[in-house]
Amino acid sequence: MLETVRVDLPGRAYDVRIGPGLLQEAAHHIAPLLHRPRVAIVADAHVADLHLETLLSGLEGVQTSVLTVPQGEASKGWPQLERIVDWLLDEKIERRDVVVAFGGGVIGDLVGFAAAVLRRGVRFVQIPTSLLAQVDSSVGGKTGINARHGKNLIGAFHQPSLVLADTSVLDALTERDFLAGYGEVVKYGLLGDATFFQWLEANGPALAAGDEALRVAAVRRSVEMKAEIVMRDETEQGDRALLNLGHTFCHALEAATGYSDRLLHGEGVAVGCALAFELSSRLGLCSQEDPSRVRAHLRAMGMKTDLADIPGDLPGAEVLLELMGQDKKVIDGKLRFILARGIGDAFVTSDVPGDAVLDVLKDGLA
Ligand code: GLY
Repeated sequence: MLETVRVDLPGRAYDVRIGPGLLQEAAHHIAPLLHRPRVAIVADAHVADLHLETLLSGLEGVQTSVLTVPQGEASKGWPQLERIVDWLLDEKIERRDVVVAFGGGVIGDLVGFAAAVLRRGVRFVQIPTSLLAQVDSSVGGKTGINARHGKNLIGAFHQPSLVLADTSVLDALTERDFLAGYGEVVKYGLLGDATFFQWLEANGPALAAGDEALRVAAVRRSVEMKAEIVMRDETEQGDRALLNLGHTFCHALEAATGYSDRLLHGEGVAVGCALAFELSSRLGLCSQEDPSRVRAHLRAMGMKTDLADIPGDLPGAEVLLELMGQDKKVIDGKLRFILARGIGDAFVTSDVPGDAVLDVLKDGLA
């Protein structure tokens, strides 16, 4: 059941390999990249508790050293970056060595950035262990940390040399974490592949219940779409922004909920996608049925769909709109939205009347 998607960037091409049991065969995939049989692994501490033994047995024949990092977004800052870089230097990791990032999106971004700056760039392998990281953050080379001024404001584009997405590890996720990652999967159908969205409507429940073949198929199609977009626009000068469907709303909601457990990123993306389709429909860009269909699928999956599904109080529509203005994707003071002409047909625009956004938010909060 091994699937491979090639991210064919000139001079920086790499494979994303997807399937069950890849941890057990890690040496087979990673050894061809090595100049000497050793790797430095930086792992999320919780992921290490669950899966490090399996990875280490899969790396038999390769010398390994391991550093663990506390789980959670708080690790994605200067203190852990400094700790990782110092450790890699202590371990005498050289320019031609390979660093392994073993965990979810936080670890991928953090360790990828450490690899980008260490000795002006060493190669790294992503072994993503959350659904969100497998379908989105491990692919495409965005690395970085959070700043006092906001999330992901310090970073670099640094493509991995290989991504190993072992779909067996998804079994260890809580249902909530799995569904949050599924929010990003749905995003791909909504932004560029109506047939994939239709496939998700039919297969999403079985996939969430644990069907391995369906999980592999969903991760493969998501990664394929991401790779196509990244190959067209690696540094987000244009099309790559499509991957931010739902994110302008999501970032405001994350800020409003203090980046807390009240709303996981993928949950915010799902609610944001529903709001983006609502806005598109009100602007006459897509049919009125489209937002209902998006919401119906999210509901059928048991996901957060509307603003009312977010626990606790939210600020008013004006404050949320203000928070959207803090988004780093604002250009010349204008909010940039990803809107849609229909399911599978998204586009980027800065031409969105603030009043229309306010109305969507007010109705959602009512
Ligand atoms: N997660 C959005 C991107 O990689 O561009």
